[in-house]
Amino acid sequence: MTSADQLVPGVEVAVDVGPVAHGGHCVARHDGRVIFVRHAIPGERVLARVTEGAPGDRFVRADAVRVLHPDARRVEPSCPVAGPGGCGGCDFQHVQIGHQRELKARVVAEQLRRLAGLDRDVVVEPLDDAGGLGYRTRVELAVTTGEGGDAPPFVGLRRHRSHAVVPISDCPIADAPVREGIAAAAADARAGGLDPGTVAVDVVGPSGEGDVLLLEVDDSGDAERVSVRERVEAAGESHELSVDARGFWQVHRDAPRAFVEAVLDAAGAGAGDRVLDLYSGVGLFTVPLAAAVGARGQVVAVESDPLATRHLEANLAGLDQAVALRGRVDDVLGVARSGRRQRGRRGAAPARSPLIPPSADVVVLDPPRTGAGGPVVRAIAQLGPRTVVYVACDPAALARDTAPLAEHGYRLDALRAFDAFPMTHHVECVATFQRG
Ligand SMILES: C[S@@+](CC[C@H](N)C(=O)[O-])C[C@H]1O[C@@H](n2cnc3c(N)ncnc32)[C@H](O)[C@@H]1O
Repeated sequence: MTSADQLVPGVEVAVDVGPVAHGGHCVARHDGRVIFVRHAIPGERVLARVTEGAPGDRFVRADAVRVLHPDARRVEPSCPVAGPGGCGGCDFQHVQIGHQRELKARVVAEQLRRLAGLDRDVVVEPLDDAGGLGYRTRVELAVTTGEGGDAPPFVGLRRHRSHAVVPISDCPIADAPVREGIAAAAADARAGGLDPGTVAVDVVGPSGEGDVLLLEVDDSGDAERVSVRERVEAAGESHELSVDARGFWQVHRDAPRAFVEAVLDAAGAGAGDRVLDLYSGVGLFTVPLAAAVGARGQVVAVESDPLATRHLEANLAGLDQAVALRGRVDDVLGVARSGRRQRGRRGAAPARSPLIPPSADVVVLDPPRTGAGGPVVRAIAQLGPRTVVYVACDPAALARDTAPLAEHGYRLDALRAFDAFPMTHHVECVATFQRG
């Protein structure tokens, strides 16, 4: 039998696949060593080929390269590069879509249990797409010449945990216009039609007026600056927002609608309320929240990215009750950034922005994957909102940030989870915390 210390890249062992874990893999064990196996389903028996790991490591990574006992919910992937050694974008193309959602629900529930001590039944709701395909409105393609450098360039997507590029000319999780854009970029690359020095092509399919865009990115990360219009029809209203084509926008074509409706419903903001919309981006939630609080209310949106803030200001034009505040959330709330030196003093708190009101009725926050962190969450609680709506793209960060809210008397009242990234392990949560 292969011993735990012999589990090095290339070695294959037959394993029984255990539970799904956060990150798109399942947990198996061999000779006492944990193996994170991709392309497997809990309950299966598979031949796992080690892809990363060395003797003495706490765990090794592996791909299921042969299925010895398949789960009944195993399906043929729609994409030819979705399997072991292929594109790293999709983790779950081999799993029937309903079961993907069940696996993600288990991950969210497990993160809440482990990191926040909360027992919750979680349901992952589908968005409007073609059974988990045809949804992405943005894809960033890498451009490379491959080994040697004198071969013709090609476009592709990165392998899992690697810089290597898998050539593609189609991506079934992209929506129809973006798929056409990918095919066009692949043809351009083959024909030598990309500008010299292009390292990536961003394919962007906005929901408002305008065709799909192909933006060539140079090795300093720059591309032509283009603004696009995104139309959001949600809760019986229609909004059109201006966004930088390469700036943050929810990638699932139905996500802006679903998240706006979920946030409005959770926030329960009414006429005259004072609301903070933290990590606001270009104002996806700010604009409908401003409509909800009306002319007597107030919405303060905080966003650190200068370009996104410029679009935010443009999107708030005519909404006198809404103000855009450019800055980091921790800075404007007057919270010390952990580990940062400020004027020679480690972590000294900056002055709180005068535009942040002393109290708020509702706080909405939609931080990046790392979460908001304890100091920011505590500062939010100190504003005394009746409701905190936390939009989370990482359930582990949400679970970690739940504890400081609980310390201040906020309990998790409702949790919705959305399948905003089908075929991948990612899942979006909208958590509602109430005071008292
Ligand atoms: C997940 S996006 C959400 C944007 C918006 N709610 C939406 O759905 O379109 C997070 C946003 O937070 C911004 N951001 C990241 N770190 C930040 C910080 N420390 N302070 C303020 N904004 C930040 C990013 O630029 C990005 O626009």
